[in-house]
Amino acid sequence: MDSIQIKDKKFTVSIKEEDILKEVSRVANEINRDLAGKNPLFLSVLNGSFMFTADLMKRITIPCEISFVKLASYQGVSSTGAVKEVIGINEDLSRRTIVIVEDIVDTGLTMQRLLETLGTRGPKEIHIATLLVKPEKLKVDLNIEYAAMRIPNDFIVGYGLDYDGFGRNYKDIYTVVNEE
Ligand code: IMP
Repeated sequence: MDSIQIKDKKFTVSIKEEDILKEVSRVANEINRDLAGKNPLFLSVLNGSFMFTADLMKRITIPCEISFVKLASYQGVSSTGAVKEVIGINEDLSRRTIVIVEDIVDTGLTMQRLLETLGTRGPKEIHIATLLVKPEKLKVDLNIEYAAMRIPNDFIVGYGLDYDGFGRNYKDIYTVVNEE
């Protein structure tokens, strides 16, 4: 399938599964090398990172644990608008090596919020693993050690990422077609 329609938007395929998996394997190898002996706890951020998490974890060969968190938006008074609360952390994070597994870092505000929240629970270190980064959109300074791919500032769906709830199921990544 080279193009898909979701609601009012048309998307064309931009990164094939085969190419995604090559980069996911590279990231997994880097993590296996860097975090050996640290028994990392991977915290996968739902919903968007479910496919990336599955493919990444199949390639992690060091002893580790996996858990899942969610970000719940709630109305709050803040300069950035919607405030996000991290829910679902049931593990003791104190003195642990944490790897946040995200789908995409866009402005970086979500990641910054996650780092702040997790940081209050006494972890030894927190690493970031993300499938995608849009470097042109980054507003905050983040140390993104493990990024599978860097992409331009276009809206994408597929491989876990959605447009209004749809499109997460596709194995390839699709980029929106901007109709003039
Ligand atoms: P940030 O806080 O601006 O970095 O936004 C991160 C979140 O926005 C991601 O976890 C995604 O849920 C969503 N997001 C950003 N860009 C895209 C995109 O191109 N497609 C789908 N979701 C996106």
